Amino acid sequence: MCRQFFIFCILVSAIIGSEAADTCNSSIFPSTFKFGAGTSAFQIEGGWNEDGKSRSWWDWFSNSYSIYINNATGNTASDSYHQYKQDIASMVAMGLPNYRFSLSWTRILPKGLNYSINQAGVDYYNNLLDELEAAGIEPLVTIYHWDTPYALDFLGGWTNPKMVDYFVAYADIAFNLFGDRVKLWATINEPKSFCEGIPSVVVNLFPEMPIGTYEYLCGHHAILAHAKAYRLYKEKYQATQQGRVSLVLDLGYNMGLTNSTVDEDAAERKNLFEFGWFAHPIVYGDYPDIMQEVIANNSARQGFPVSRLPKFTSSEKLLVQGAYDLIMLNTYTSYMITMANYSNSPSYQNDLQTSTSQSSEWLSSGLSTFKVHPEGTRKVLKWISDTYASPEIIITENGFSDNTATLNDTERISFINGTLTNIRLSMCDDGVNVTGYFYWSLIDSMEWNSGYTVKFGLVQVDFDSENHTRTLKNSAYYYKNVIETRLVNG
Ligand code: BGC
Repeated sequence: MCRQFFIFCILVSAIIGSEAADTCNSSIFPSTFKFGAGTSAFQIEGGWNEDGKSRSWWDWFSNSYSIYINNATGNTASDSYHQYKQDIASMVAMGLPNYRFSLSWTRILPKGLNYSINQAGVDYYNNLLDELEAAGIEPLVTIYHWDTPYALDFLGGWTNPKMVDYFVAYADIAFNLFGDRVKLWATINEPKSFCEGIPSVVVNLFPEMPIGTYEYLCGHHAILAHAKAYRLYKEKYQATQQGRVSLVLDLGYNMGLTNSTVDEDAAERKNLFEFGWFAHPIVYGDYPDIMQEVIANNSARQGFPVSRLPKFTSSEKLLVQGAYDLIMLNTYTSYMITMANYSNSPSYQNDLQTSTSQSSEWLSSGLSTFKVHPEGTRKVLKWISDTYASPEIIITENGFSDNTATLNDTERISFINGTLTNIRLSMCDDGVNVTGYFYWSLIDSMEWNSGYTVKFGLVQVDFDSENHTRTLKNSAYYYKNVIETRLVNG
């Protein structure tokens, strides 16, 4: 667009340049704001058993229970293990300056443990990073996006305290091998999703699963693993690599079903159980009081000798508190919250004890629970800023899905436009320090339980063609224009 409207673009750049003066133009993003898009290894790579890679839990699960997830596996996925150059070509075509992707633990460490490194896996990520660098695209690398080595599940996965050291050893290898080119690291993606979301689905298949205990053990070790990896980076790599490290947390905007105090309190309770579960320890050194109280009381009522929520020792509190350089937030939708009746069977959901609905006025999307409410983005940003002492925030995921992969994706365009408008209002009018936005997802991919029925991509993938041909959707051109002009229309 800038080629066609040269004078217009010069004017826009002049306005952006004056951002440092004290005006905040709510239609124009500053030149320092990071626009990007993201993916994760299991969802796009495929090549699930190639060149020395071993199975992750998701490889095992999707091949054993694919019926349960729309007959899908990640065996080929979007084939990015072979087509990553096409991905980069798509990024170049849309002028994308930042790309978030994740490393596959079992491609680098097939045994899960650090005694045996798979050089072919390391080569893959070196090639990807080198090509990104050549294209002038900055990476944000997630070390772990849910694809736990299946080998480590035999050792209890995230419920095993040793998982902390296994993860740190893996993160050490990632920092060491790739940190010369990576300046933004996310250690772990959405611990709530794999500690609570996945078990709450899997328990239907394996009723013996000890939910109510599993979630908090998993979360505890994920927090400690993140914090230890963060400290390791600071001690061993910060001076030479100069990167920044955080973990990715997710929160949809929770509002009271009505404006009664009971409903408002229920919404706040849900914010603290969902986001505070992880953010409170890293910002304040311990779990939110309400979680500590509720889970201790419920555990006692249910006959547990101690609370199902583990406790941090005093040295662990020092380890976790402050283990972040910024907040990385995934946010998609909003919810209306009220209290639910108490149920005496142990589970995270029964401790949370809220019930959730969404407004019938909000547009539906490809995922039934992700109705469209872009105003929620501004509210969730404000809640985080107010609750956690005005941190810098990068939105590491936000996106709209459909079931068709249409190229004429007008609903996705208005979703992104609405969200960016709210982000800019949040920056200008609420004073929230948002410094980046990564659309989810760069390309159509394997959407976990929904398989290939749900498409989030800016870029369509033809899953039936031999090369998994990529085609930019209209939203990719819309985003290209936003990136070039920094302008949103409101
Ligand atoms: C996950 C992504 C997923 C997206 C949409 C996020 O919670 O990090 O992997 O594709 O939600 O469901």
